[in-house]
Amino acid sequence: MLETKPTRLIVGITGATGTIFGVRLLQMLHGSGVETHLVMSKWAARTLVHETPHTAKDVQALATHNYPLGDQGAAISSGSFITLGMVIAPCSMRTLAAIAHGLGDNLIHRAADVVLKERRKLVLVVRESPLSEIHLENMLKLSRMGVVILPPVPAFYNNPQNLDDMINHITMRIIDQFDIHLDVMNRWDGVLANERKTRAEED
Ligand SMILES: Cc1cc2nc3c(=O)[nH]c(=O)nc-3n(C[C@H](O)[C@H](O)[C@H](O)COP(=O)(O)O)c2cc1C
Repeated sequence: MLETKPTRLIVGITGATGTIFGVRLLQMLHGSGVETHLVMSKWAARTLVHETPHTAKDVQALATHNYPLGDQGAAISSGSFITLGMVIAPCSMRTLAAIAHGLGDNLIHRAADVVLKERRKLVLVVRESPLSEIHLENMLKLSRMGVVILPPVPAFYNNPQNLDDMINHITMRIIDQFDIHLDVMNRWDGVLANERKTRAEED
């Protein structure tokens, strides 16, 4: 039998602020050879048009496959559909809670539940601030099960010049979680910017 490596990634976008992370992720993976299977929540679509120039239709055009939120019979609703796992970017506290409590009442929750039961990789780009005890407990519970809790917190060591640099760096780090390494931004190489400048001046 021929063995095939799955290159399908389930992408959920929910109604937390930061919908640009889901969009950038799809933009980066577009044409990369990774199949993206997208589900957006109702509030993701609302938040998207509020905070970005994109429409839900534009974003869906970036994905390889799209599923309606209520389609519990979709391929990604079954463990027999092999995937690398799932990323939810951004992930609202509502969706976090639904996953932590095993609710499967929409396709995002159900697909995440399947990823958990199959012991595949689940990455949650959780976004809320400040965090309540409920949010923290839900994150801890899922983290103990191997879920990667990856809030979109910017780094400054790579000297971002603008918001786009920050978004690209965070999105690159999200994609890294699936062993897909797209070098769209500088990575930390152990050399501070001022050291690099001194070395360049010495050369
Ligand atoms: C502009 C806007 C920003 C929001 N930001 C957040 C947020 O950062 N985190 C969060 O948990 N919910 C946020 N919400 C609330 C969620 O959209 C709401 O709880 C919704 O029910 C989430 O449903 P979903 O997880 O199915 O998308 C925001 C809502 C709006 C309209």
